[in-house]
Amino acid sequence: MIFTVAIDGPAAAGKGTISRAVAERFGFAHLDTGLLYRAVGAIGGDPALAARALAPADLARDDLRSLAAGQAASRVAVIPEVRAALVDFQRRFARQPGGAVLDGRDIGTVICPEAEVKLYVTASAETRAHRRWLEVGGDAGQVLAEVKERDARDMSRAEAPLKPAAGALVIDTTAMTADQAVEAACAAVAAALRAHR
Ligand code: C5P
Repeated sequence: MIFTVAIDGPAAAGKGTISRAVAERFGFAHLDTGLLYRAVGAIGGDPALAARALAPADLARDDLRSLAAGQAASRVAVIPEVRAALVDFQRRFARQPGGAVLDGRDIGTVICPEAEVKLYVTASAETRAHRRWLEVGGDAGQVLAEVKERDARDMSRAEAPLKPAAGALVIDTTAMTADQAVEAACAAVAAALRAHR
């Protein structure tokens, strides 16, 4: 069975939690595509060369989760050659037999517009910054400023800007618990699976 769940949205909206839960519930493979861009940003040097040479070990670095790595990722993510180098791997992952969940910024719009389920997971900037601050600590005002800066860069870039895909179900997690968000996503996946079979 080929079945893709495409999950897009801004930083700290809940994509990761939802993606992992959907993958586990339905037995699908999961790819956090943000890690690809974080790794390219962390490697340094020429970003296009780094993207073309990206290897699995690069995704296992332990320094990819920091605010700085997120900022570096969004800076290399505006480069068309970087995005182009990562397309084939993501498309193959999306259409592998057995089902796949991919989360990122352009999965339903560019990587896999034919996905059987497209979700756009969002929340207010303040809520997302607070969640990120609980993870990373530091100065709350600076975390909010970084979230807004990254949103602006991701949404305004020319290449694959962040926006809801056509036909995407929007899940606003601002006033939801993680469990409620996961259930909303799983209900959409279960309905699409019934229609698919
Ligand atoms: O999701 P995460 O915060 O790990 O993503 C880091 C950055 O990588 C994003 O801010 C965005 O600029 C970029 N990205 C992207 N396309 C994706 C996934 C991430 O441009 N599919």
